[in-house]
Amino acid sequence: MYQAKGHITKQAHVDIPAGTYEEQHGREGFFGPVSHLYHRHPPTGWTRIEGDCRPQAFHADRVETTGDAPTTLLENADVTLGVARRRGTPPYFERNADGDELWFTHRGAGVLETDYGQLRFGVGDYLVIPRGTTYRFACADECFFLVIQSLGTRLRQPERGLLGQYSLYDATTIRTPDLLALTRTEGEYEVRVRREGKLTRIFYPFHPLDVAGWKGDLYPWALSIHDFCPVMSHRAHLPPSVHVTLVGEGFVVCSFVPRPLEETPGAQRVPFYHRNIDFDEVLFYHAGDFFSRDNISAGMVTLHPHGVHHGPHPKAIEKSWSPGKTHTDEYAVMLDTRRPLHATDAARQVEWKEYYLSWQ
Ligand SMILES: [Fe+2]
Repeated sequence: MYQAKGHITKQAHVDIPAGTYEEQHGREGFFGPVSHLYHRHPPTGWTRIEGDCRPQAFHADRVETTGDAPTTLLENADVTLGVARRRGTPPYFERNADGDELWFTHRGAGVLETDYGQLRFGVGDYLVIPRGTTYRFACADECFFLVIQSLGTRLRQPERGLLGQYSLYDATTIRTPDLLALTRTEGEYEVRVRREGKLTRIFYPFHPLDVAGWKGDLYPWALSIHDFCPVMSHRAHLPPSVHVTLVGEGFVVCSFVPRPLEETPGAQRVPFYHRNIDFDEVLFYHAGDFFSRDNISAGMVTLHPHGVHHGPHPKAIEKSWSPGKTHTDEYAVMLDTRRPLHATDAARQVEWKEYYLSWQ
């Protein structure tokens, strides 16, 4: 039942009618029924918002963290997003009984020690830790992580569909742990188990990572954001769903990495305006030049809730076609969630409260 009225363009995101701003109003993320609306004003041109449903931004790198559980910033019944700092090697091990964890390394390097062995990691690495794994971070310097916790089903790779199984990232880029060579196993060892947000401390008279061998298809693994291969079209801007990296129940995680900009004259080079019905959108800005957003720097998190428009900041559309601008130069991690997310007190303490006015 496709319909069209008034001033439109033949191909969405290309040759937008002069004096209009294109908005994509769609369902089911970017997969469901969709219409494009050609507005006479940018849909983000509000003068004020009264009420809680508004774009929010947080200085995640300024959050005070403790040595234990990651500090949660945003949460719903399916997923939490938080940050954690780790320094040196703690005298205890951790285990999360509530969910699978995804640790994204924003800063630092080291070794993740697990039941399954050790995984070396550095800046830009995603570390997938299945629920119930016993682990410990041994950090060479101060590490800062974005931590996503999947409370429902396990984290898994996306279906590649028409793209083929070697797209997005090749199975060969996935790193798995190497068995630990224990030099010392006597003494008392502590494992801190997190369940429903509470800590239980279990003590052993032997090293808890004492595995001599293992087999199976459940284990921690690592993937570098630098090995993620973005999908793009030189002719028309593709939706962010082409960057899906991991899938959980009620959410997806996407990676934004540098890529060539669209080349066809008239093609829109920045994300289209949309009111992201069906998914809340969270971005963690990791590195580079976030050219579609003003005043956003590495280490910040933005939240765009269901129902309120977002899109490029006013200068970005012009800047995207400036001479010599041929590539994006940004690394970011996106979390899209089915259920609305709620900011915690820890997040509110580092909120940039005027963010929702930053399109004016
Ligand atoms: Fe978006």
